[in-house]
Amino acid sequence: MMIKTKETVKECAEDILCGVNTTAGVEQATDLERKHLPIISAPKSIKKGECFEVTVEVGKLLQHPNEPGHFIQFIELYAGDTYLARMDLTAKTTFPIMKTCVQLDHAYGKLRAFERCNLHGTWENYVGIEVIE
Ligand SMILES: [Fe+2]
Repeated sequence: MMIKTKETVKECAEDILCGVNTTAGVEQATDLERKHLPIISAPKSIKKGECFEVTVEVGKLLQHPNEPGHFIQFIELYAGDTYLARMDLTAKTTFPIMKTCVQLDHAYGKLRAFERCNLHGTWENYVGIEVIE
């Protein structure tokens, strides 16, 4: 087991394949960030126990390559730390867009999406969601 010290945390921050990448904000995101951020479309508030649609799209801000040497390998969706869904992708034939219906029976926290690019590592984005009784 690797113990994270100040040294390893610093090295991880400099290595795109280490840990999870994100952006400080979509408005000031770099092109690399815009290509990789999973963009979540979901209602801002939902009724407890009612199904609602969630779409996660990679490359919505700036198109990401989709070829054998460079593609999105998977998309995952969580409510807070609770796993909801995953979609595995192949290069060229499938596109990094995941649509699903979700129902929440209480507040779990933010909707969080992760995606993995074979060259540029794992990326996370999130949106707030309110669960109304
Ligand atoms: Fe990439």
